[in-house]
Amino acid sequence: MLNRRIAEILRSGQPDESLLVQGWVRTKRELKGFAFIEINDGSSLANLQVVINEDVPEYETTIKNLNTGAAVEVAGVLVASQGKGQRIELKAEKLKLYGEADPETYPLQKKRHSFEFLRTIGHLRSRTNSFGAVFRVRNACSAAIHQFFQERGFLWVHTPIITASDCEGAGELFNVTSLDLKNIPRTENQAIDYSQDFFGKPTYLTVSGQLEAEVMAMAFGNVYTFGPTFRAENSNTSRHLAEFWMVEPEMAFCDLEGDMDLAEAFLKYIFEYVLAKCPEDMEFFNQRIDNSVLATAENIINNQFERLTYTDAIKLLEKADVKFDYPVSWGLDLQSEHERYLAEQLFKKPVIVTDYPAQIKAFYMRLSDDEKTVRAMDILAPKIGEIIGGSQREERLDVLERRIIAQGMKPEDLWWYLDLRRYGTVPHAGFGLGFERLVQFMTGMGNIRDVIPFPRTPQNAEF
Ligand code: 4AD
Ligand code: MG
Repeated sequence: MLNRRIAEILRSGQPDESLLVQGWVRTKRELKGFAFIEINDGSSLANLQVVINEDVPEYETTIKNLNTGAAVEVAGVLVASQGKGQRIELKAEKLKLYGEADPETYPLQKKRHSFEFLRTIGHLRSRTNSFGAVFRVRNACSAAIHQFFQERGFLWVHTPIITASDCEGAGELFNVTSLDLKNIPRTENQAIDYSQDFFGKPTYLTVSGQLEAEVMAMAFGNVYTFGPTFRAENSNTSRHLAEFWMVEPEMAFCDLEGDMDLAEAFLKYIFEYVLAKCPEDMEFFNQRIDNSVLATAENIINNQFERLTYTDAIKLLEKADVKFDYPVSWGLDLQSEHERYLAEQLFKKPVIVTDYPAQIKAFYMRLSDDEKTVRAMDILAPKIGEIIGGSQREERLDVLERRIIAQGMKPEDLWWYLDLRRYGTVPHAGFGLGFERLVQFMTGMGNIRDVIPFPRTPQNAEF
């Protein structure tokens, strides 16, 4: 017999169809002579209602163990539902109970649990409505991203996770070593002797695939990466993870305007895709998590993002009639409260801030003629703050070398990156989208720990 996904049965199943479903029991109601169970298999928010009459052969032996959380298989026939709330239900003919779930100890009983509590049971929380919806939307976002780039002829390139360079120059690196930490080899002057380490030099988990994506863009024109990145940044906020996924397109023959145009079209595309693919989950977020989710999605799709320079943003922030915790002045980086003020209060839509001071941005960003600013752009989203960070890259060898030295790095460590400027250099640009911040923005989920299945944050690597 056909084994069918519940999402598809609820969408298109017809009375008299015989089928088999497999999933986990969400609820059970025992009545006289029969019982209802609701089964969920992760394919949709809605459950499939199953009616089990006591004449089903396994009824006697299994019904008392068909509790919330138990894994079951039901074969039966679809019938039009008499009850409210569902079009169709399954009349069981054969039952098979796989794994029981003891109601005394199974933590997900039918009541509302806080997200804080659910984080302590990260191995079970995906079986709840909220996390089911989050991870289906997360999946749709991934699919949208690939489809967007593939439709436009971008090559998906896989950049390394282990690297010897600090792309962002922020020093937030996790070391990768196979040295014996109890007996670290030392050089004569007591420094760690990395020549004895696995790679013969210090290595780290990558903070960004950009530098290698630039290499690939210099051969394929338009490329993108989509992979995990790591930052040992000790920020315990609702928007920071130590391990997060980043999407990084890189385009040859492209300037900052082209970069911004792509980023804006990209975000609009993902929102449209998810609204079309996951209407039920998005409705759920709008009702249960944040009642501005659907309006936000429409706003993203239908409005042009605001574009302004950092210098103009500073002027607006200085004029703002709100009290910020952090100072505002030209040359200081924008804090999340400033970013949110601009996107949430002032413009009420995503804002693209460009041309930041050179000294607060990474070495690879293209220096402007004023020698003070770089051709950077950050996209700031309501509630989230920075969701995308990007720039036109410095394609001039001499300027790039100067910038590397000015930021206390050694040009010889980046010899291969500099070679790209020696051989066939061209204006190019790209950006990085924080994938979890996108999913947060899409779903209205308040904490970034709740949009990735297994969050990694300071003092936490359980599951
Ligand atoms: O602005 P960032 O640091 O930019 C880069 O890494 C560039 N190399 C990207 C590029 O141009 N190819 O990071 C990009 C985005 C941020 O805008 C933010 O959305 C996200 O990555 N991000 C984080 N997300 C979750 N947890 C963290 N700790 C994050 N740090 C950055
Ligand atoms: Mg940034």
